[in-house]
This record gives sequence, C-alpha cells and structure tokens, in this order.
Amino acid sequence: MVTYLGLQGVQQLVRTLGVGGFIARLADEIESDYRRWDAFEKSARVASHSADGVIELMPTSDGRLYSLKVVNGHPVNPQRGLLTVMALGLLADVRTGHPLLLSELTLTTALRTAATSALAARWMARPAPRVMALIGNGAQSDFQALAFHHLLGVEELHLFDVDTQATRRLQHNLASTPEGRGLRCIAFPSVHEAVSGADLVTTITADKRNAVILTPDMIEPGMHLNAVGGDCPGKTELHPQILQRPDLRVVVEFEPQSRVEGEVQQMPADYPVTEFAAVVSGRVQARRTERDVTLFDSVGFALEDFSALRLLHGLVQAHPECGQSLDLVPELDDPKDLFGGTLGDRSGQSPMRRSFSLGTAQSTNDLTRVDNSREWGNSRLTGAASGSHSGSSRTSRPAARSSRT
Ligand SMILES: NC(=O)c1ccc[n+]([C@@H]2O[C@H](COP(=O)([O-])OP(=O)(O)OC[C@H]3O[C@@H](n4cnc5c(N)ncnc54)[C@H](O)[C@@H]3O)[C@@H](O)[C@H]2O)c1
Repeated sequence: MVTYLGLQGVQQLVRTLGVGGFIARLADEIESDYRRWDAFEKSARVASHSADGVIELMPTSDGRLYSLKVVNGHPVNPQRGLLTVMALGLLADVRTGHPLLLSELTLTTALRTAATSALAARWMARPAPRVMALIGNGAQSDFQALAFHHLLGVEELHLFDVDTQATRRLQHNLASTPEGRGLRCIAFPSVHEAVSGADLVTTITADKRNAVILTPDMIEPGMHLNAVGGDCPGKTELHPQILQRPDLRVVVEFEPQSRVEGEVQQMPADYPVTEFAAVVSGRVQARRTERDVTLFDSVGFALEDFSALRLLHGLVQAHPECGQSLDLVPELDDPKDLFGGTLGDRSGQSPMRRSFSLGTAQSTNDLTRVDNSREWGNSRLTGAASGSHSGSSRTSRPAARSSRT
C-alpha cells in the first residue's frame, strides 16, 4: 500500500507543530539537504508552457529517495476561482522504485517556499532585520509573513498589492492567527512607500510578463531582496538595472534553472551568481559588508520539495491517523502474475497481498537516518521525522531569531 496525505492530513500535521514550528522544521530539513548538494541528482524542471500558464515536473533523487512534484503557475486563475499555484508530489524508494508517499503539495509548496525564503535570508540579510516590505499579498504571502516573523524575528510588515482586497485579507488572517499576532501590518498606497526603510523586501506577485515591481531608486544600501514571483521565462519582477548594481550579491538555487527562469534571465550568460549550496556550506559569503545589497533570486528547486516530502513522510509515520492507505500499486502473491492477480481468475480471491514488504529500507526514517548519520553525525538524528537538527553546527552564519531574543 502507498501512503496518501491529502490536504486534511497535511493540515493536521502542520497543526501538531504549529505553522511557525513546521516552517522552522522544514527550513532545517532544506538546509541540511542543501549542505549535501553533491548527493543530489539535479536537473532544471521540465516546463510545458501555454497561453495562460505553465505546468512543470520537478524531479530529484539523493540515491535513496526519489521525489517528483507536478506544479502549475497560472496567474489568471484567481479570476476563475482557482489558485494560481497547485501541486502534488510523490516520494519513492530508489532501491525498489516503489512509491512511499503520494501527497498534496499546494499547501506544502507555500510552506516550503516560505521556509526557503526565510532560510536564505538568515544567511544573506543583515542580522536582526525588523521591517519587511511584502509586495504581492496573494495565496503565498501569509506563509512568507509567518516564516519571516518566526525564523528571523521580523516585527513589522509593509504591505502592497494592486488588489487592495488581497491586502485586507492578508491583514485579517495575520491578525486572527495567534502565530501572527506579534506582527504589525501596515498597508501602503505604493510599492515605493512600502519598500522605503525596509530591511527586507519580498516580492511575490503573479503576472505572466516581465513586470517591474522594484525599480533602482527603491533599493537602499544593506537591503536583502527576496524575489519569489519571477519564476518562468518572460516572468520577472525586478528592473534589470537593479541587477547591474556593483554592490549587489546574487544567490540562486540551481544555476542552470535560474538562468532560464529567475531574475537573472535578464542578464548575460556570464553574469555572476552564487548557488545557495555554496553559501550554506560556508564556501562563499553571500554578504561581505553591511551596505551590500543581497538578492535571493528564488524560482523554487526540486530539492526543497524533496525535503518537504521526506519530512511529511516521517511525520505521517509518527501520526498514521493523518494519512490513508491507497491501493495504488498491485501487491501480488506472484509478482510475475499481474494479469492473474488483477484481472484473471485469481483476482477475486486475492487481488492484493496485505503484507507486502519493502524490505529493510522501507521507512523514510530508516533511509534518512543512514544517510544523515554518515554525513552529519548522530546529533542530527533525533525526532520522529527524517532529521531534527538541533545539534548541527552551522558553518559560519548564525542570525536566527533565537540568537537575538
Ligand atoms: N519561487 C518559488 O519557489 C515560488 C513558489 C510558489 C509561488 N511562486 C510564485 O509566487 C507568485 C505568487 O503566487 P501566489 O500563489 O501568491 O499568487 P496569487 O495569484 O495568489 O497572488 C499574487 C498577488 O500578486 C498581486 N499582484 C500582481 N501584480 C502586481 C503588481 N504589479 N504589484 C503588486 N501586486 C501585484 C495580485 O493582485 C495577487 O494578489 C507567483 O508568481 C508564483 O508563480 C514562486
């Protein structure tokens, strides 16, 4: 049987840790996976573009687990009553190819994108940021707000959206969620006013074109820019002159994908970028001075969904009531007799073998435990899910909230 996690199951799992706690846990998972970058099979995602949007396949594997996300991006969808971004995902055992988990990834994508944004800012922004401008107040924005509040200690949000109703919705949600109550949210009438004086700027708008959300005059020394909404060819948010600033340090997830999909698609092929893996491993410092402007040119990389699926699989093993068993794959007494066991004369008697075993490496916990113990030491391996990282030693960059409060 394959474990299925639907929306309700993920909601329940997130509630067991709290939204801030879940995002923090996921950020740890993502960070640990970026640190073992070389273990991953990496490819740019496979995109199918159409007039209104894109549908993408995002696969990766670390040689033990394989993950695949199917995700869309259709900025016009809210006018049709649909989400702009929807996703589902699969986690499989590399040794046998057997699926382990089929999961919703729409809610999870918002959580993992927020976790990745906050994680990148922890490594790239100046310490103790207080104010973040949040431009684009749609489906992803609440998650970004909570991630920066819980992981970096952001206390004040400066909001702007061309749709004032979207901003009111965001303000309402953050005010009515216990985890958002420490946040002061102020709506501004323009991007310029929202960005002025902010330590961090997150752009997370949806528009299928080369939009210009941030212009060069808005950028102040020392700012960290978290540009999330530009994630497809011909879909960007920053004026190209921002990318030409001599004091700008640009970090991307996976360079071959970001060159095509990120803000840096506007720049020549030799434009300097640093991969995030080099930053979390301590090989490259994203920020050299307090006055540098840093840009996390986020497009979303398959590794982040791998981390999320592995975390969910570990959590659902600890909370089996949140998942369901799916008869997605025939489990046969005689694995050579697919016809007989499903459609032939034996199908009525014993269509599915109940006790199919994946062997010794069946659980994600086992798979990850072996992997992590090799690379990170046993201190990282407590907790029900794949890895709790309280004992890990950061290479060079602290600046998490816990260090300031
Ligand atoms: N990088 C990643 O990993 C990642 C992950 C998920 C989503 N995304 C991208 O993030 C973006 C937002 O996703 P969403 O699900 O929140 O979409 P959404 O449609 O729910 O919200 C987008 C918001 O942007 C606003 N907007 C559009 N143009 C604007 C402008 N010029 N100025 C200010 N606001 C503007 C819209 O009014 C809307 O409220 C999308 O482009 C999506 O593709 C990126």
